[in-house]
Amino acid sequence: MLIPTGQLLQKATAGGYAIGAFNVYTLEGATAVVTAAEELQSPVMLQVLPSALKIGGRPLVALCHALAKDATVPVAVHLDHCSSQVLTVKAMIWGVSSVMADGSELPFEQNIQFTQYVSEIARGLGAGVEAELGRLSGEEDGIAVHQREALLTSPEQAEEFVEQTGVDALAVCIGNVHGHYRRTPELDFVRLEKIRQRVDVPLVLHGTSGLPDELIDKAITHGICKFNVNTELRRACLKATEACFNEAQTGQQPELTRIMEESVRAMKEVVSEKIKLFRSAEMT
Ligand code: G3H
Ligand code: ZN
Repeated sequence: MLIPTGQLLQKATAGGYAIGAFNVYTLEGATAVVTAAEELQSPVMLQVLPSALKIGGRPLVALCHALAKDATVPVAVHLDHCSSQVLTVKAMIWGVSSVMADGSELPFEQNIQFTQYVSEIARGLGAGVEAELGRLSGEEDGIAVHQREALLTSPEQAEEFVEQTGVDALAVCIGNVHGHYRRTPELDFVRLEKIRQRVDVPLVLHGTSGLPDELIDKAITHGICKFNVNTELRRACLKATEACFNEAQTGQQPELTRIMEESVRAMKEVVSEKIKLFRSAEMT
């Protein structure tokens, strides 16, 4: 069943678990997420990036919507990392339950203005808004500590930001990065705790791929109630596709349906493993 994001996150906060928000690009990805969630009786989120939406447009949202509606578990559909006001509005009209208004590249004041704009429209359309404070990218992993600090979420700014923008969820930067962790991941739980004390909206952690199990567990205990997962799913899909080519007889190509089946199977494994870590199994 299709459920508003806010409802999923509030229930997760109250229940001491987190929702897995998985980036999907195709029918295979979305099917893997929903079937894993159904098998484990877990609420879940399907999220699409603007880059995928550029190719898939409204039909991609419609596909996620249809799978969500038919699912036997609660599913929300979300637009991830969007810095375009126009696209956030389009996606809401196309039916996403929530959008991430990503103004994290902007100076603080401009991020507030950008997010206020999206929040106002979202309220009118009944959608939820997630925003990010601090800056997180795949590049941040290799930089000096003092530079890294400057990109982490400030608890004081987080309080002001949430107050002024009225967002429904806040993505925090506490040492998490997108993509590969080039060194052992470290999360700043003291900072997370301070943010938690000042902000009462659900907190989100991006860059979950590659985070050790114990950090995920600790993050939930410290108030994270949504984890974004992309890289591990993509990797599983590509590996499964590659294996299909490798197993094909010399001079032959694999059947497309074989690739579809194998990529669903591989992505489903990743989703199931994450759902268990997020403590959301049996939480429908
Ligand atoms: O918004 C998506 C993510 O933050 C996913 O990060 O690719 O490191 O799992 P990841
Ligand atoms: Zn992200």
